[in-house]
Amino acid sequence: MRILIVGAGYVGLCTGVMLSESHDVTLIEIDERKVRRINSGISPIYEKGIEHLLQERVEQENLKAQLPNAEVGPVDMVLICVGTPASSDGSVNLDQVSSAVDFILSRVDELIREHMIIVMKSTVPPGTTRKYVKNRVKHTEFQDKIGVVFNPEFLREGSALEDAKNPDRTVIGCSNSDEFERVKAMYTPVLAEDSQVFIQTNLESAELCKYVSNSFLATKISFANEMANIAEKIPGADIDEVMKCVGLDNRISPKFFRAGAGYGGSCFPKDTAGLRSLANTLDVDTPIIDAANEVNSERPEKLVRMLRSELDLLSGKDIAVLGLAFKPGTDDTRYSPAIKVIDILVEHGAYVRVHDPLSSKIQEKINLPKEVQITDNLEETMREVNGAILVTDWPIYEDLGLERIVESMKNRVFVDGRRVFANSEIPRGVRYITVGTGCSE
Ligand code: UGA
Repeated sequence: MRILIVGAGYVGLCTGVMLSESHDVTLIEIDERKVRRINSGISPIYEKGIEHLLQERVEQENLKAQLPNAEVGPVDMVLICVGTPASSDGSVNLDQVSSAVDFILSRVDELIREHMIIVMKSTVPPGTTRKYVKNRVKHTEFQDKIGVVFNPEFLREGSALEDAKNPDRTVIGCSNSDEFERVKAMYTPVLAEDSQVFIQTNLESAELCKYVSNSFLATKISFANEMANIAEKIPGADIDEVMKCVGLDNRISPKFFRAGAGYGGSCFPKDTAGLRSLANTLDVDTPIIDAANEVNSERPEKLVRMLRSELDLLSGKDIAVLGLAFKPGTDDTRYSPAIKVIDILVEHGAYVRVHDPLSSKIQEKINLPKEVQITDNLEETMREVNGAILVTDWPIYEDLGLERIVESMKNRVFVDGRRVFANSEIPRGVRYITVGTGCSE
């Protein structure tokens, strides 16, 4: 198939790399620098395994990027993969979706051979695909030749390519079985054999299911964090043991049930806010989602409180923060709990040193307060500090072991916000505090 993808951001690029294994894919991107990088086989995003595949697909001429004004020619599918950021009131900003649809419809003469399907992959509030795409297509002379589908993405940063090939399910929201079969045929050759689970729904159910999935996962994490708060007050209780026992119930599952520093990233915060805002417009209250967000927003403060319970005043003290990305395997710091931890430490007058294995990539993208030093050299971060908080569970920390990490600290007070060392032997002389273990506060 010939596939056009509008938007070479995270979802567009990963989906393009995956589909180009069997199809001819063109990415449309307004950022000229990104276009150049992609066509040179260099990924504009950090994602496990992408560089190698991107280079291979570009060399084989199965994947290319171009600016919107370049010629495309006829295609079978157009995937919309543009950003849908949150507005300041939590509602979803659809400007990029609108521009993408303008672009497609302005070029429809060139894009249609016999039939074409517009596949919306951007996360949008229910009703958007109908209003912004289907209803607009209806007013063109090509309405019988254009199908409109909503097909949510469930890719996790850091394992996006693996997720793209091995989805638990592929949801295809559409109006008829012809659209369903065509989109299914696009995915069938590139998905792993045991991941060929396709579900047909209508447009609105498919749109809503993306918000509900992310909101449920966020709620599950906050529930685990609330249970961790309880476990901490019970001598001997251990939240990992508890959640393992609970998660082995098939109805519950152990995944996304780890207590820690809370969830970050652009998706859970954005989609819980988006669903809440949608519900408000429909006059529906969302006490569960509100509580999930409230529990989550308290996690960074809690980690700093744990440190203060040992060090008392933080003013003038050197404190190490381990990990800045919102989770391991990415250089994305959007809504990262580490950013909030750093802000709170700075408010308390601490001098903060941050370690992240991807610090150089991160530094290109964000500005930290001047009191904060960031490096990828862990030894430099830990030297003579008065205390440390681990926020992101990069594997390198577990690989090194707590003894090595703390050896050059001045005061060996270590708050483990992700329970990385909760089941390891704690070296003598280290005051180790973690979430979810009885009497840690
Ligand atoms: C999330 C969803 O998992 C994807 O299915 C979805 O496609 C994506 O959002 C999206 O909407 O685009 P992502 O934000 O990349 O993916 O990251 P996750 O792996 O879901 O982690 C989110 C946060 O939850 C991280 O900060 C992580 O540390 C935290 N987390 C995760 C926990 O605190 N506990 C857990 O048990 C699991």
